[in-house]
Amino acid sequence: MKILVTGGAGFIGSAVVRLAISRGQEVVNLDALTYAACLDNVASVADAPGYAFEQVDIRDRPALDRVLSDHRPDAIMHLAAESHVDRSIDGPATFIETNVMGTFNLLEAARSYWDGQGRDPAFRFHHISTDEVFGSLGPEGQFTEESPYDPRSPYSASKASSDHLVRAWHETYGLPVVLTNCSNNYGPYHFPEKLIPIVILKALAGEPIPIYGDGSNVRDWLYVEDHADALLLVLEEGAIGRSYNIGGENERSNLDLVRTLCTILDRMAPKEGSYGDQITFVADRPGHDARYAIDPTRIRDELGWRPSVTVEEGLEKTVRWYLDNRDWWQALLDRDGVGRRLGRAS
Ligand code: NAD
Ligand code: DAU
Repeated sequence: MKILVTGGAGFIGSAVVRLAISRGQEVVNLDALTYAACLDNVASVADAPGYAFEQVDIRDRPALDRVLSDHRPDAIMHLAAESHVDRSIDGPATFIETNVMGTFNLLEAARSYWDGQGRDPAFRFHHISTDEVFGSLGPEGQFTEESPYDPRSPYSASKASSDHLVRAWHETYGLPVVLTNCSNNYGPYHFPEKLIPIVILKALAGEPIPIYGDGSNVRDWLYVEDHADALLLVLEEGAIGRSYNIGGENERSNLDLVRTLCTILDRMAPKEGSYGDQITFVADRPGHDARYAIDPTRIRDELGWRPSVTVEEGLEKTVRWYLDNRDWWQALLDRDGVGRRLGRAS
C-alpha cells in the first residue's frame, strides 16, 4: 500500500512513517516543516526505496492536487496540524487556518482525486484526532466514541471542527473515511514544548520544572509507537465511517507524572540532591481541562489492539532516549517559543 502521511516530520507522524516503512509500505511524507517539524525524525528511513518527501502546506490546494496526482496513494493518513494548546491560546488564527481550512482543502483534494480514480472503495482517508474534542472530565468516567463534543481551547475547537468536516465528507460525498481520537502521547522525538520533554530538559539544565496550577490535572498517557501501531491497524481494518478511541488506560496526575520522571532521572543521571527539588508551581493554563481518560473498548474488542508498553517502561525508555539524543533536542532549543512559558493569555 502507498500511504500519503501528512505531518510526517512531526512527533506522531514520524513514528507512523518509520513504522509503515519498517512494515514494507510505501510512504509519501507531506509536511510544511513548521517550527514543530524535524526531518531528523525520519532520517532513519529517508533513503528507503519506498519513501518520498514533499514539502507542502495543506493550506495550498493546488500543491495538494499535484502531490496526489504525482504519487497516486492508496490512502491518506492526516496528522498535519498545529498541536500545542498553549500556542493556540497565544495565537489561535494559525490553528483555524491549518486545522480547519487545511483539513477542508485536503478533503476536497482527496475527494477530487478519489472521484478521478473511479471512487475506489478500497481508498481510505484516515483523520487523526484527539481526545480533547470531548472536553474535560470530572473525577469519574471515560470518553467513549459516543461522548458529546465539548472542546474548550482554540486547539481542541479546531480539531473538533476538522472531525465534523471529515464526517460530513463521508455522509455527503461518500468519501471512505475512518477517524481516531487519541489521548496524550509521549516518547522519542517529542517536541520540547510539551510537558514530558520540558520536564526532562529543565531538570537536566538545573532550571525550575514548571507545573501549571496545583498539578492535579489528569492525562491518560500512551507511548507514541503504540499509537502508530494502532493507527496502521485502523487504516487497514477499521470500518468505513467509524471512529475509534485510542488510549493506554494510564491515567496520571501531572504532579505524579513529574515526580516519577524526576525519580527516573535521579537514577539514570544522578546529581547532588533530587531533580524533584526543582519542581515549581506556576500560574495555571487558562481553561485548563481537568481530566482526560479514554475508554479503548471498541478498538480492543473490534480490532484486537492493545498497547505493548506499560507507562513505567515507556517513561524509562523515553528518559533514556533524551539522555542519549542530546544533539536532537539541543538543535531545537533556539526555535521560536521553545523554553519560554507559552499560553498565559491576559
Ligand atoms: P506535531 O506538532 O509534533 O507535528 C505536526 C506536524 O504537522 C509538523 O511536522 C508540522 O510541520 C506539520 N504541519 C503543521 N501545519 C502544517 C500545514 N499547514 N501543512 C503541512 N504540515 C503542517 O504534532 P503531533 O503531536 O505529532 O500530532 C500529530 C497529530 O496527532 C495532530 O493532528 C494532533 O492533533 C494529533 N494528536 C496528537 C496527540 C499528542 O499527544 N501529541 C494526541 C492525539 C492526537
Ligand atoms: O490529549 C491529547 C493532547 O495531548 C493532544 O491533542 C495535544 O496535541 C497534545 O499537545 C497534548 O495536549 P496537552 O495540553 O494535554 O499536553 P501538554 O504537554 O501541553 O500538557 C500536558 C499537561 O501538563 C497539561 O495538563 C498541562 C500541563 N503542563 C504543560 C506544560 C507544557 C504543565 O503543567 N507544565 C508545562 O510546562
